[in-house]
Amino acid sequence: MINQSKKLQANSDISTQHIQFHNPSGNYEVLVGEGLLDRLGILLAGGGWTGSAVLVADETVARLYTSTVLRALEASGIEVTLVTLPAGEIHKNLDTVRWLYDRFQDAGLDRSSTVVVLGGGVVGDTTGFAAATYMRGISLVQVPTTLLAMVDSSIGGKVGVDLPRGKNLVGAFKQPALVVADIATLRSLPEADFAAGMAEVVKHGIIDDPDLFVHLETSGWEPLSWVLPRAIDVKRRVVEADPFEKGHRAVLNLGHTFGHALETLSNYQMRHGFAISIGLVLATHLSAKLGLCEPQLSVRLAALLDRLGLPIRYSGHSPEQVWAAMASDKKRQGNKLRFVLPQAIGNVIIHCEVQRDVVLEVLAEIRE
Ligand SMILES: NC(=O)c1ccc[n+]([C@@H]2O[C@H](COP(=O)([O-])OP(=O)(O)OC[C@H]3O[C@@H](n4cnc5c(N)ncnc54)[C@H](O)[C@@H]3O)[C@@H](O)[C@H]2O)c1
Ligand SMILES: [Zn+2]
Repeated sequence: MINQSKKLQANSDISTQHIQFHNPSGNYEVLVGEGLLDRLGILLAGGGWTGSAVLVADETVARLYTSTVLRALEASGIEVTLVTLPAGEIHKNLDTVRWLYDRFQDAGLDRSSTVVVLGGGVVGDTTGFAAATYMRGISLVQVPTTLLAMVDSSIGGKVGVDLPRGKNLVGAFKQPALVVADIATLRSLPEADFAAGMAEVVKHGIIDDPDLFVHLETSGWEPLSWVLPRAIDVKRRVVEADPFEKGHRAVLNLGHTFGHALETLSNYQMRHGFAISIGLVLATHLSAKLGLCEPQLSVRLAALLDRLGLPIRYSGHSPEQVWAAMASDKKRQGNKLRFVLPQAIGNVIIHCEVQRDVVLEVLAEIRE
């Protein structure tokens, strides 16, 4: 278990940025810096590590980074059992969770144990859900290695898995004890996966950080040591205002009502970030059609996403099929679909009263 109250500052160097998350069920730190995997043992030992632990990673990430992590942990006297999963959204399901419970039992985990999860949002969400529910919840340390996981999925406490009929339909709130984002791991990330993470960075700019959005437009995504903490801080502000998604937090779903439908229709073959990129364009286009924002906004957004290597149109399915897939999404409220719509960069609203015909029109216009 990691003692969340212990200060970690002493154990990380000056260039590491510390972002404090305050939550009713516990506060935690998100560390962002270079070379943090090598210091993971020191960071965890500094947090008051006790008990047994497992390290979970998907096979791709395990090949790249578990030897570094295991060495770092062992050097600090922390012994963990390594568990590897196949990579891919298709494995973000209850079968994998059940399999993880067995591995947790094999490793002798009890309520004082810790699960360290190393990797992207898929392994983070799945393992996070297993940690949230095993013995009614054991300590979780998130070590994100994709851009998307660093700026979005590893922070904020939502964990869960997909059902065949929809994304993230089973889940829990589980705050991590600590999040350690080593920017150096992004160097091995395939270009397309890096671009996918940028979709959530752009989303955070639209929600609450016009300077971040303009920086991406004018200077691109560098330096990451500036862009990442800015994007993380948008999420921090939103989840601190509404930790259990009673209202305002839904703004983080910008682009997701459309995006989840596209992801489900692709049988989870489309990258989450790619689906969100198209979803952001659709949401902005819908907003313009409803007269809630300038038509120019969707042109400006599409230009930025395109420059970042992201898709801005969907293909393959008919607008009616996308509509039907949206109707089974959990962001529905009763019979109404809930859309998050931009009014300007840095200003979004939640809107439920959208006619089916208008949505179909927008879908037809953004289809390849
Ligand atoms: N919980 C939340 O709040 C939240 C928020 C946003 C997204 N999500 C979820 O996150 C998931 C998407 O996460 P993702 O985009 O990280 O996908 P992912 O976990 O599938 O990772 C993408 C690919 O990159 C590989 N990879 C990971 N790190 C690497 C590295 N450093 N170098 C080389 N390869 C590496 C993985 O093996 C995988 O093949 C979706 O399931 C989405 O629903 C959750
Ligand atoms: Zn997302």
